[in-house]
Amino acid sequence: MEKIIVKKSPALRGSVRISGSKNAALPILAASILGTEDIVLEDVPNLKDVEIMIEVLQKLGCSVKKTDENKVEINSKNLNSYETDYELMNKMRASFLVMGPLLARLGKTKSSLPGGCNIGSRPIDLHLKGFEALGAQIKYEADEISASCDNLKGTVIYLDFPSVGATENIIMAATLAEGETVIENAAKEPEIVDLANFLRKMGAKVSGAGTSTITIRGVKELKGCTHQIIPDRIEAGTFMVAGAISGGDVVVKNVISSHIKPVIAKLIEAGVEVEESDDEIRVKGGGVCPINIKTLPYPGFPTDMQAQFLSFMTTLPGENTAIETVFENRFMHVAELQKMGADISVSDRKAVIQGGKPLKGACVRATDLRAGAALILAGMIAEGETEISDIFHIDRGYENIEEKFRNLGAIIERIQ
Ligand code: UD1
Repeated sequence: MEKIIVKKSPALRGSVRISGSKNAALPILAASILGTEDIVLEDVPNLKDVEIMIEVLQKLGCSVKKTDENKVEINSKNLNSYETDYELMNKMRASFLVMGPLLARLGKTKSSLPGGCNIGSRPIDLHLKGFEALGAQIKYEADEISASCDNLKGTVIYLDFPSVGATENIIMAATLAEGETVIENAAKEPEIVDLANFLRKMGAKVSGAGTSTITIRGVKELKGCTHQIIPDRIEAGTFMVAGAISGGDVVVKNVISSHIKPVIAKLIEAGVEVEESDDEIRVKGGGVCPINIKTLPYPGFPTDMQAQFLSFMTTLPGENTAIETVFENRFMHVAELQKMGADISVSDRKAVIQGGKPLKGACVRATDLRAGAALILAGMIAEGETEISDIFHIDRGYENIEEKFRNLGAIIERIQ
C-alpha cells in the first residue's frame, strides 16, 4: 500500500501551475454522451476520478481516447448501453452524472447507488426528483435505481437545496427534452458555468448558468466541439494555503481569482499578503490572527477548502472557528489533526481551533480527498515526520501532487 511521507519543510517558494478542474471535467465528460460527433477536451486533469469516468463512458460503448496527458477525444455515436457498471459507480459518486445524459439520449438508465468520498449520507433524491419532473419513471430495486421515459418534457424544477450534481444532471437531461426547462434555486458554481459553456458549444440552448435560475430549451440533437476545462479552484486554494501555512512566497498560476474570492478574503483576514494579477495569485507570508469560516454553496466559502483551512488555522494564534453547513459529516480529518497535536474540538457542525500551538508528525489517515490535502499541509509544518495512509483518496483529485509540492521546496515523498 502506498503512503505519503511529509517532513517539516522550509517555507515554500516558487510557482505552481494549476491543473484543469476535476469537478468541471467529470460532468463535461458525462455530457459528451449527449452528442454523436467528435468532442475534444483540453486541460483534462490526469486523475483517478477522471480515469474512472473515462472507463464508465467506455463501458457504455463510447469511444474515448487520451491523445495527450491532458487531452481526451470522445465520440459517443456507438453508445450501446444504459447500465452503469456497478464497480465503477461504487468507486466514484460522480459516475451518477451519466444518468441525466443517458436518459436524454436513450430514454432509459440504470445504476447502482453511487459511492465516493465518505462525507455524510449524500443522497441523490434531488437528481431523481428532477428526472421525475421531466417525465421519467423512477424504479428502485434493492440497491439499484432505474429511470425511463418515452420522451422528456421541459418543466419548472425547484431544488430544495442548490445541489451541484443535481443541477448538472438536470441540465444535461433537459438539453434534449421537448420544450423549456427552468431550474430554480440552481447551484451557481463555476463548474456549472463551464458545463453550460461546453453544452452551448455542442448546440444546446442553456442560459442563466452561474445564477440561481437556469433555463434550458431542448434541441433535437447536439454536435461536436472542442473545449478547454477551467482551472481547478480547489487545487489553487490548496496551494495558496500551502504558501500561507509555511509563511512562504508562492505564485499560483492558471487560476481565475474570481472563483476563489472567499479563500482570498480569509487569507487576507488572517494577515497573509495576497496579490492578484491576470491569471496568477501570489501568496506571501503567514497568518497572524484567528479567523472564522462557514462553508456555503458558491459563492460562499467552499466546503472543499474547509479541511485545508483547519490545518492553516492551527497556525493562527487564538480561537478560530469553522462551521460546516454543506455536508453533515465532514470533520473526520479533525481526529487525524488531533493525532498531530492540534487543539480542535467539534460539536455538531462547528469546530473550534485553538491556534498557535506547534504540531508534531504522526501516522495519520486520509479520510477523504480534501482531508488528505489538509494532512500534507499540516505535515509540512509539523515537527518530524508525518506518514499519511489511504492516499488513494488524494490521487482521486490532485494531479502530480508530490511533484508540485517538491518543486516549491516541500520535503515529501511517496513510498510503498
Ligand atoms: C460536488 C463536488 C464536491 C463538493 C460539493 C459541494 C463534484 C464532482 N463534486 O459534489 O467536490 O464538495 O459539490 O460543493 O462536483 N444533497 C441532497 N440530495 C441530493 C443531492 C445533494 O440532499 O440529491 C445534499 C448532499 O447530501 C450535501 C449537499 O446537498 O449535503 C451538497 O451536495 P451536492 O452539491 O450535490 O454535492 P455533489 O454534487 O455531490
